[in-house]
Amino acid sequence: MDARERLRIYLEQRRDMGESELVLDSMPVDDVLRLIADQGTAPVRGSSAAASKSGSATPPRSEAPEHPANWRDALSSIGAESPHAGASERATAKPKPVAPPEHTELAAPALPAAGLVVGSAAREPLPGHISALHSLDELAKHVAACQGCSLYKTAKNPVPGEGNPHAGFVCVGEAPGQTEDELGRPFVGRAGDLLTKILEAINFKREDVFICNVLKHRPPGNRNPAPDEIKACSPYLLRQLELLQPRVILALGTFASQTLLQTTTPIGKLRGQIHRFHGIPLIVTYHPAALLRNPAWKRPTWEDVQLARRIFDSAAQG
Ligand code: URA
Ligand code: URA
Repeated sequence: MDARERLRIYLEQRRDMGESELVLDSMPVDDVLRLIADQGTAPVRGSSAAASKSGSATPPRSEAPEHPANWRDALSSIGAESPHAGASERATAKPKPVAPPEHTELAAPALPAAGLVVGSAAREPLPGHISALHSLDELAKHVAACQGCSLYKTAKNPVPGEGNPHAGFVCVGEAPGQTEDELGRPFVGRAGDLLTKILEAINFKREDVFICNVLKHRPPGNRNPAPDEIKACSPYLLRQLELLQPRVILALGTFASQTLLQTTTPIGKLRGQIHRFHGIPLIVTYHPAALLRNPAWKRPTWEDVQLARRIFDSAAQG
């Protein structure tokens, strides 16, 4: 089965399940189906069975993705517009304009439940040398020299975090992986590429926000962070948040979420609530690396990041 056919069946299944919007780029399913039809496949509407039959006439494509879940790849393999095409490019391919994500019927509930509260809005008593750090750059220099746990011994580079020092939106992941360790930058591997796209989907450029991790050095072989490492490294994150004073924190994945919220509640239950971390609204979502493995989490992630964006926007107004 070629990529277009597979994609069409997948999209029709999703539509039959009640979805009308593609996760992460708010491209309506019908528009994508229309695009596919423009590329020379069979009728847009119709049952999956009919679609399969008509699709058998389509020449196979060697670059067909392995999983229909890789819909981004599937879209580009058929020459459809890039999910990041600008508004004008989109207009030519689209019969009708698409409402901004927050205005679609699939937006997250207007009033999410209040969640867990960790810490107070008052300043934490941080270790003296850390509370004496008065800029993110200064903090990064201290991280580079930190021997607070043993990870500095095996890591190639410190990964303090990066982004806009005035960012109101902060993404917090778990710990640097291999690519991050090599480059000294957070979220620059495959998961990082996806995070960049997720941010673009809510109209942030990567450099608009601040991106960091709970741990600033890579645990060997990407093993889970150990409690003493978290304890030693957390003051840096707290100081970063004090310096940034963001409007919202987006916690990426189970580890960051459970660590920041000091809970063992599964991420599926932590989602959809507005938690407070030292007074700052904190939204939980799936880790981009987990999304790469489980595409079923794309939709909830899309809802989560829209919620985070709405909190950011409303804080800007209020
Ligand atoms: N995963 C994380 O949690 N953080 C990174 O920086 C990269 C991958
Ligand atoms: N490991 C990496 O090197 N990068 C990622 O983004 C995730 C895991």
